Amino acid sequence: MTRDPATKTPAPSSSIRSLRLGKVRRRRPARDRRTNPLREGLHLERVPDPCAIVLFGATGDLAHRKVLPALLQLWRANLLPRDLLVLGVARRPYTATQFRDEIRASIERHSRTTVDAAEVSDFLEHVGYHQADFGDNAAFDALRQRLDACERDHGTGHNRLYYLATQPSAFPVVIGQLGRTSLNRDTGGNGWRRVVVEKPFGHDEASAIRLNREVGRVFKERQIYRIDHYLGKETVRNLLVFRFANGIFEPVWNRRYVDHVQITVAESIGIEERGAFYEETGATRDVLQNHLLQLLSLVAMEPPATFGADALRDEKVQVVSATSALTPEEVARDVVRGQYASGWVSGKRVDGYRGEAEVDPESETETFVAARLMVDNWRWSGVPFYLRTGKRLPKRATEIAIQFRAVPHRLFRETPIDPEPNLLAIRIQPDEGILLRFESKMPGLGLEIRPVNMDFTYGSAFAYETLILDALLGDASLFARADEVEKAWEIVTPILDAWIGSPAPTFPNYEAGTWGPTDADGLLGRDGRRWRRL
Ligand code: BG6
Repeated sequence: MTRDPATKTPAPSSSIRSLRLGKVRRRRPARDRRTNPLREGLHLERVPDPCAIVLFGATGDLAHRKVLPALLQLWRANLLPRDLLVLGVARRPYTATQFRDEIRASIERHSRTTVDAAEVSDFLEHVGYHQADFGDNAAFDALRQRLDACERDHGTGHNRLYYLATQPSAFPVVIGQLGRTSLNRDTGGNGWRRVVVEKPFGHDEASAIRLNREVGRVFKERQIYRIDHYLGKETVRNLLVFRFANGIFEPVWNRRYVDHVQITVAESIGIEERGAFYEETGATRDVLQNHLLQLLSLVAMEPPATFGADALRDEKVQVVSATSALTPEEVARDVVRGQYASGWVSGKRVDGYRGEAEVDPESETETFVAARLMVDNWRWSGVPFYLRTGKRLPKRATEIAIQFRAVPHRLFRETPIDPEPNLLAIRIQPDEGILLRFESKMPGLGLEIRPVNMDFTYGSAFAYETLILDALLGDASLFARADEVEKAWEIVTPILDAWIGSPAPTFPNYEAGTWGPTDADGLLGRDGRRWRRL
């Protein structure tokens, strides 16, 4: 692998650079870091230390779709150190050239912007490949030696980020090998070691506790970065700013003014080529346990004392702890599961879930789940949080809707249309933005009242880039902590257990291209409410 410092790097992409502007830390760059002239003047950025990123599962879907394209974008934007090594580790007997060719092809397919071939080549000069069966001790001994040698050549300062993008079943094996070969050790202040663990983190409460224990035996909590890419989305990060950098929302952000909250993660795609994965996961483990509960925590949390990782995560844990786990009877009443039949999505005929590749034709896996959860604390007592997610819904839309209470006194009861309560809708994606709906008098002689929207649109999100950069910078604020993950499983596991013990569901129960089973409407209907039309 060669490094050519003279290679011209393209001008930084202002869109990504702007991602970092929120994190103003006027720290001096390390003295031994090579200066990059293109970064001159960009005083608001922190750039990670020289480092090696060791990507396990480097030939897999996640690495190719998300991680490698994100690294390339960061590289293009000069947000990675010039002294960088990306070492892919996987079972396939590739040469470095084969691996790089594969990356080049997948970047063409998955990169969110068109990337110049020269830029890709520039990045690929820093990429290598190491073949290893994860159970093979000799391959990890060789990895250790190779990393030591590469670090000498690349000047990566003994800093290493291990990225676990493998099948979840391989997490403990890889972690065990990193421990056995002492690749986990911070070498006495000489360089750092961090590990990024992808979701799903565990399959249920017991397995998450076990995994935490296994990872915790090898790495300290401060070295562990459990990724939930929703936390890297711009709009999700903006939620914290919206809530805690503005004085006018906090006083009404509670049971006194809020009637209920709806959080939707709707997808129009099916399970794509992930039949085997999805059969074991289902919507509850895939999205409710992580993305939806993360959004719930951010909406419901108390203001943290500081913006530090632990203060933030302490408050999030408080929310999940206050969210009551449901009894089997409550699961039957307050949780609705569904599975899509064939139907039409965006004008195209699509198969039902049971007809997808690698899916059991009798499968009972849910592709939709809706739940009514209560956060039992002073602020939220009595306010239902309705959460839903599903595949093959009519459109892709993630939104948090805060539905405020109606005015206490109906002053305008004589007008033709009763005023509607206020609504605040935070659109996470697409069409990112925040909408506030309030009532207004129609101009004219009469007294006609109509809702109007104040709508603010926002930039889109590059979640993986943000999170990888945070991990390289050692900022764990947007990563889940061990206790947070376990608490989330405490909410979800009773739901999964109750389903095991209940009669087989009558699947499929919603047509692709519809908003899920009719029972999901009943969940709100019986409280006199309905889902917001998205
Ligand atoms: C992933 C799930 O975590 O999130 C996928 O495994 C889902 O099933 C995806 O499609 C949704 O992410 P996004 O960023 O497209 O909303």
